[in-house]
Amino acid sequence: MLVIKGTDKHILFFRAQIIIGLCCILLSLKAVAQQAGDKPLPIIPVPVKAVATNGKFSINTATSIVAQKGINTDNLKFFNQMVGMSLSKSLVIKDNLPVSNYIYLEIDTLQQKDGYQLSVNNKRIIIKGHDEAGVFYGLQTVVQLMQPSKKVIQVQGCEITDYPRFAYRGMHLDVSRHMFPVSAIKKWIDVLALFKINTFHWHLTDDQGWRIEIKSRPKLQSVSAYRNETLIGHKKELPHQFDDKRYGGYYTQEEAKEIVAYARLRHITVIPEIEMPGHALAALAAYPGLGCTGGPYQTATFWGIFDDVYCAGNEDTFNFLEGVLDEVIKIFPSEYIHIGGDECPKVRWAACPKCQKRIKDEHLKDEHELQSYFIRRISNYLESKGRKIIGWDEILEGGLTPGATVMSWTGIEGGVAAAAQHHQVIMTPEKYVYLDYYQSLYPSEPLAAGGYTPLSKIYNYEPVPSRLTPEQAKYITGVQANIWSEYLPTVDKAEYMIFPRVLALSEMAWSNPKQRNYNNFLSRLRPTMRLLNRLHINAANTFDEITDSVSQTAKGTQALTLSATLPGAVIRYTTNGSKVTAQSKLYKSSLNVEHTSTISATTFVNQKQVGRTYTKSFFIHKAVGKQVTLTDAPEGNYNPPGGSAVLVNGLSGSARYNDNQWLGFNKHNFEAVVDLGKVDEITSLGTHVLNYHWQKMWAPTSLQFLVSDDNKTYHLVYQQTDFPVNGINAVSCKLSHLKARYIKVIAINKGTIPAGEYGAGGRAWLLLDEIIVN
Ligand code: ACM
Ligand code: ZN
Repeated sequence: MLVIKGTDKHILFFRAQIIIGLCCILLSLKAVAQQAGDKPLPIIPVPVKAVATNGKFSINTATSIVAQKGINTDNLKFFNQMVGMSLSKSLVIKDNLPVSNYIYLEIDTLQQKDGYQLSVNNKRIIIKGHDEAGVFYGLQTVVQLMQPSKKVIQVQGCEITDYPRFAYRGMHLDVSRHMFPVSAIKKWIDVLALFKINTFHWHLTDDQGWRIEIKSRPKLQSVSAYRNETLIGHKKELPHQFDDKRYGGYYTQEEAKEIVAYARLRHITVIPEIEMPGHALAALAAYPGLGCTGGPYQTATFWGIFDDVYCAGNEDTFNFLEGVLDEVIKIFPSEYIHIGGDECPKVRWAACPKCQKRIKDEHLKDEHELQSYFIRRISNYLESKGRKIIGWDEILEGGLTPGATVMSWTGIEGGVAAAAQHHQVIMTPEKYVYLDYYQSLYPSEPLAAGGYTPLSKIYNYEPVPSRLTPEQAKYITGVQANIWSEYLPTVDKAEYMIFPRVLALSEMAWSNPKQRNYNNFLSRLRPTMRLLNRLHINAANTFDEITDSVSQTAKGTQALTLSATLPGAVIRYTTNGSKVTAQSKLYKSSLNVEHTSTISATTFVNQKQVGRTYTKSFFIHKAVGKQVTLTDAPEGNYNPPGGSAVLVNGLSGSARYNDNQWLGFNKHNFEAVVDLGKVDEITSLGTHVLNYHWQKMWAPTSLQFLVSDDNKTYHLVYQQTDFPVNGINAVSCKLSHLKARYIKVIAINKGTIPAGEYGAGGRAWLLLDEIIVN
């Protein structure tokens, strides 16, 4: 029998209390953890460590900010501005710590560089930053946690430790094609700072307009800053139409300095870009003597790459650019100056006596080495002024200038090559982080440049190429999203393209890759959209729309899988093209598409439609789901995830060419064989080819359909050599009394783009979509 003595009883009671207490703590921790797990703290970029705790801090008009001596209180203006939006009053900055109701800021060098520790409970907020930037970022996290209501702002209790992955976290903005008011740029800088982006790369000069005042060169203001008119619509469409309206303007040096100072208070460095040797038409329009032919030139009125560039053999070019840079470095104190270097055609240099003399005198091999000479000379000049250069990845051509940082945009190859040569690299690959690309494939999406970069694609991009050794990987100093403004004529349109995709960039740039998870990001983004709204940002909300994938079933039919990320949403659909209503069929699993049909689908939450309606039209013909073999693999952006099967999936490509239905060939011709599985009657054959010369997409010089019973001996049944439409050309031939098992399609690539055409001398793209057999 167990006898419990008095003292033991006491101990047991005490133990039970501890156990109950521990259980309570564990339960409450679990509750908090669950709260954090179900609904993570709405912080973007996701912090290194973040735990929600019980309680909330209420910021009210009596809350004070106490900053440790030495912290620049100018840095608090931005935070106070955010508080002021809700409380209509800024917080008082005090020297002494009250008992409670305060936000205390201190420098703690034990934190990681640019990092911070944030502690929030119901009495106070404490931020310990490694440095001023760390304190600032801690405050931005608080802003993201602020839940404003009448007269108070609540901040969820939490313990956070946080620091960045990359030192360079950038956004670029082109203001040449379209410029934006200083007020908009400041607003965007606010939002970039809020999401811990620390570099604003300002693309100030290009063919379509020079946008920075250079006092020693007044014609840059009176001539280069203006163009006579602007292209209407997409440059791929013909005939080109123009709006007949003079467009232009520039930022005065005072305005630019104001932006630099504004950004500095938000821990953002402004890096100016002065483009050279290409993209120089606007400057040449004012100073034609700087071009190889002497002009006359005009500021460009449409988009693209132009043959007229700065003459590399003329000393005046270097005098001009050095004079420009002298003024630029006085406005912009940044360590780095971006000098462009991309997309510089060499045709003028090849024909220019001065450029050729320079090649000879400097013992250069060719025009590529002349480009390298150009960049090196400018780099040396800037270095003599204590600055360093950044250039687009074409500065690798003809040899990389010592000390240059490479911005890898054409892909990742430039970044890999530069890192291997121990040069700093910023990753900005077009396919993943260009925000002028479409973010949605819905037809009602506003006009964009082309391509397709949904939020998920930018989010999931990993900036360190896996091919790099750990030693080389250290040269990847950061990542940046680029915004080209050809199709962004207004602030609203620009914001629609920038936000929220730049928030995905911010998380990629700041957060530990192990913590990145797209669904978790979305659950933090949805509440953050309210914050963007409070900041009057016209952010796109297309990310919760229905997306799809098409795959082939074992039976050879097409399975259409629909997905929607919005919690609590259901998908309803119709298959006859009719409007989807709350009574339409509920989508449960992949739809088996056996007949020609148009599928429409919409998400509903509580029987209410949310977002736009998705549609997809299938045309089911004899080749759908049959085996198809390609001689050469598709290339570049036109090598869709479905591979060759997209040639026989019942879906045609759209004029936006970004829909993963076009297969593209740059180096090769197109040759494909469809095996119908048995000899069958064929009444017609068809396909589509894309002809957009302003996109370097050229219809084939010839397209043939051939048939065979044995896949050995083929005979030609149709040939076409003329494709008159600018855009999608439907190819179709009617056939009678024809039986065959194999169908071969051969399309011959245009090859070299002819002189006088856009991209002359380069390789044309050949694009085909579905092989249609009836
Ligand atoms: C670029 O997109 N041309 C750098
Ligand atoms: Zn020249």
